[in-house]
Amino acid sequence: MARHLLQLEGVDAEGLTALLDRARSHLPAARGEATPARSMDGRLVAQLFFEDSTRTRLSFEAATARLGGRSMALQGAGSSASKGETFLDTALNVDALGVDAMVVRTSISGGAALLARNVRCAVINAGDGRREHPTQGLLDCLTIREVFGRFDGLRVAIVGDIANSRVARSALHALTTLGAHVTLVGPPTLLPASMAGVAHHRDRVALSHDLDATLGGLDVIMMLRVQLERAAGGGVASDYRELFGLTHARAARLPGHCIVMHPGPVNRGVEVDDDVADDVRRSQILRQVTHGVAVRMAVLEHCLGR
Ligand code: CP
Repeated sequence: MARHLLQLEGVDAEGLTALLDRARSHLPAARGEATPARSMDGRLVAQLFFEDSTRTRLSFEAATARLGGRSMALQGAGSSASKGETFLDTALNVDALGVDAMVVRTSISGGAALLARNVRCAVINAGDGRREHPTQGLLDCLTIREVFGRFDGLRVAIVGDIANSRVARSALHALTTLGAHVTLVGPPTLLPASMAGVAHHRDRVALSHDLDATLGGLDVIMMLRVQLERAAGGGVASDYRELFGLTHARAARLPGHCIVMHPGPVNRGVEVDDDVADDVRRSQILRQVTHGVAVRMAVLEHCLGR
């Protein structure tokens, strides 16, 4: 039976740690410094992206290539979706091409699970609506573990558009399962009270509408992109940066060891000031991208049984 990766909710610490360990072993190859075993030789992976992507799509393609597999890429624009073919019909037809796995990004929350119930091949969720982005959650965890070597007792803030963020949900599940304490920070409109109950380990989750009050004790601050494409009513509030942006002044109030993360793409000058995003001492933003290749190599091997 095919092995899917649809979400991090419900994956236990042992399962997460095994994936992170395997990803760590792929870091030299992800950096282009080593040649890994061709564990995906002869394997074919369909990359189905019905929403835009730079990092996730290219890193899945890089991960597949590094392991000796082949990718076939299909984006919503230019596919027969424009002629009215449904999401599920598209996936059934791609499955019928004999692929070993499909990587899928969709605006439909639960879309990857829908495919997993209907196709023969392995399904890997590359982001489904507001629900989860499991490989992003894993690469966020790998990045944190590479810096601190542990999760137990770490204080992490996830800041911004929590309501619309699949990145926040996946990171929240994984980090709290692994022992970190997470404070979700955002304006009331983007941080519903129900988010406190999302994680299995509720005692490790706090909510705050006051970014300034959370800065002092942090080990990790993860800034989220304001998701203009999912915002109900339009743009960013004019005082967003003032209240919830990681400005130069706020970054100066973080503990010296605190790292800055962002899944990308960055709205510079909105969530994060330029000099904070580019601060090589604190910012992990580009390391997260490299770690994404290693994580996706590990996930592909996991799902394809190698
Ligand atoms: N972090 C992330 O998912 O980036 P992309 O949208 O570019 O894939």
